[in-house]
Amino acid sequence: MFAATQSAAPRLDQVERIAQLRQQRRAVILAHYYQEDAIQDIADFIGDSLELSRKAANTDAEVIVFCGVHFMAETAKILSPQKTVVLPDLNAGCSLADACPADGFAQFKAEHPDHVVISYINCSAAIKAQSDLICTSSNAVAMVQSVPNDQPILFAPDQNLGRWVSRQAGRELTLWPGSCIVHETFSEEALLGLKAAHPDAAVIAHPECEQHLLDLADFIGSTSMLLNYSQSSEASGFIVLTEPGILHQMRKAVPSKEFYAVPGLDGCSCNACPHMRLNTLDKLEQCLETLEPAIELNESLRLQALKPIERMLELSR
Ligand code: 13P
Ligand code: SF4
Repeated sequence: MFAATQSAAPRLDQVERIAQLRQQRRAVILAHYYQEDAIQDIADFIGDSLELSRKAANTDAEVIVFCGVHFMAETAKILSPQKTVVLPDLNAGCSLADACPADGFAQFKAEHPDHVVISYINCSAAIKAQSDLICTSSNAVAMVQSVPNDQPILFAPDQNLGRWVSRQAGRELTLWPGSCIVHETFSEEALLGLKAAHPDAAVIAHPECEQHLLDLADFIGSTSMLLNYSQSSEASGFIVLTEPGILHQMRKAVPSKEFYAVPGLDGCSCNACPHMRLNTLDKLEQCLETLEPAIELNESLRLQALKPIERMLELSR
C-alpha cells in the first residue's frame, strides 16, 4: 500500500541546492524526529509535535517546509495561514488521523452530549474543529487535568495514549478506538529478548504503545521527552519503543551510550512509520523548487480548528 523509500546517501550538490532554495524562498525546514536521517540533518529545526507546532506559529519565514505528516503540516497552516506550507509528499498521512472520520466522530459526540472533547493533535482539521481542546503526547496529562474533575471527557483518536493518560491523571476517559499502526506492532517477545541481552539498559517508550509494552517501560514520554531522558538518565543503554528515526538524534546527543530499536512483530521493520518515510530528500528539493504540494484549508474550518489548538498552546506555555 505504501511506497516508503529511504534517500540514498545525501549528495553534496543536492544539499547545497536545498540550502540555496531555502534562502531564495525565505523558507524554514521543520522536521519531526521520525524523518529519515538525511532530512533531520538538513532541517532548521527538529522537534516533537508540540515543539513543531510552536515553531510553526512563531516563525517569520515566508514558507514552511513541513517534513512530517499531513496533520502536522495542516496544523502549521491553521496557525500560520498567511504562509505557504508545503509537505514533501502529500500522501504522508497517519493511521490515527485516518481512523477518525469527521461524520463518525460527530455521531460519537452526539452520543455523549455532556462531554468535553480533547483530541490528540494526530487528527484532521475536521476533528480539531469538533474539539474543545487539543493535546500532544507531551502535554496530554496536563490537558486532561485542566478540565474540572466533575466534567466527563471524550478522548480521541488514540486509545493507547488515552488509556495511559487516564491512569496518569486518575480520570475516567471515554475513548475513541483508534491506534497507531507503528506503536501497536512492537514485539513483546523481541523486547524481552533485548532486556535479557542488555540487563542494564533502560526501556523507554512512547505512550502510543500498547499497555502490555508500557508495563515493561522504565520511562514513558513524547519523542522529545525520550530524547531528553536518554541524556539525563544514568543508564548506559536504552531499549527504545517508538519509531526508530529518533535514534539518530539520541546517538548524536550521547554517542557514548547504546540504543536498541525494538523490532515489530515477526522481526519486520514495520516500526518505521510508512507515512513519515514517504518524504525523501528528492521530494524536499522538489517542493522547494515548485512550492507544491501546498496545504490549503477552508477559512471557516481553519478558524474552528484554531480555537482548541490556541487553547492548548495557552495552557502549555
Ligand atoms: P510526538 O511528536 O508528540 O512525540 O508524537 C509522536 C507521533 O506519533 C507523531 O505522529
Ligand atoms: Fe501516525 Fe503512528 Fe506514523 Fe505517528 S507514527 S504519524 S501516529 S502512523
